[in-house]
Amino acid sequence: MIKKAILPVAGLGTRFLPASKSIPKEMVTVVDRPAIEYVVKEAVAAGIEQIILVTHSSKASIENYFDRNFELETTLENKKKYDLLKSITEIVPDHVSIVSVRQPQPLGLGHAVLCAKDIVGNEAFAVLLPDVLVKDTDLKNDLAQMIERFNEVNASQIMVEAVPDHMVDQYGIVDVEHSPEEGKSIVMQGIVEKPAAGTAPSNLSVVGRYVLPAQIMKLLQETPKGAGNEIQLTDAIAMLQKTEAVEAYRMKGQTFDCGSKLGYLKAVLRYGVDHPQLGDDFKAMIQELNL
Ligand code: G1P
Repeated sequence: MIKKAILPVAGLGTRFLPASKSIPKEMVTVVDRPAIEYVVKEAVAAGIEQIILVTHSSKASIENYFDRNFELETTLENKKKYDLLKSITEIVPDHVSIVSVRQPQPLGLGHAVLCAKDIVGNEAFAVLLPDVLVKDTDLKNDLAQMIERFNEVNASQIMVEAVPDHMVDQYGIVDVEHSPEEGKSIVMQGIVEKPAAGTAPSNLSVVGRYVLPAQIMKLLQETPKGAGNEIQLTDAIAMLQKTEAVEAYRMKGQTFDCGSKLGYLKAVLRYGVDHPQLGDDFKAMIQELNL
């Protein structure tokens, strides 16, 4: 069973400046909650019980957000503001724990994942990159399907989606015989980090959701610096794939890249319109603005 998920949150968010100058980009609000809450909820909905934040000294507000705030809770209780009280106490369900470890140097995503080695121990685990929000319509979300498939065939699962050819150099790209149907997995022949346009093995890009075995940590320890002079998770997966089957899982949901300003605005629109209380009014307001 996959019960642990690593969320690397140590990145400085340069793509999101100036907003991310003094607040973590993960704490930027999408409608009425920080972006990272959606990612934690996605993990919890897939059965994850321990969230491991790989973090940085400037990002304490993320840990504070997922902690209890006794003073605030007492104030809301005394004022009988029970709805608000519920909204802050229900952020993390009781059966889920949030732990954190520091990434002392910005040496890349692979290095960030490796920082959680001792917490993960001998268990397989999930990785969720918090820049990307994944919106699923099915009750069983994409990550849950990947975990189910991992348990069935005992092969790592890498979530992918098709991107336009001119964008392949921004992502990890998988090499597969053919593109699987949405919601299905296929064994991959290779994976490469940010290939130059024209050299990519496909247009299926790595979305930022992975289900990996514990032994990837050993491979990460041996992974030399790669693209961008960083230790890349993609390169360790490429090594793993030489010794055992690794599958690309084609997602069904929709992605929103909240690490980019336009992707973020799109997320605000989508999540705003779908919000159970605010959605209808928000939609009417957009129409009224007559943009
Ligand atoms: C990381 C991964 C890349 C993946 C991307 C998804 O890159 O290294 O393989 O496609 O996330 O967002 P980054 O965006 O951190 O450069």
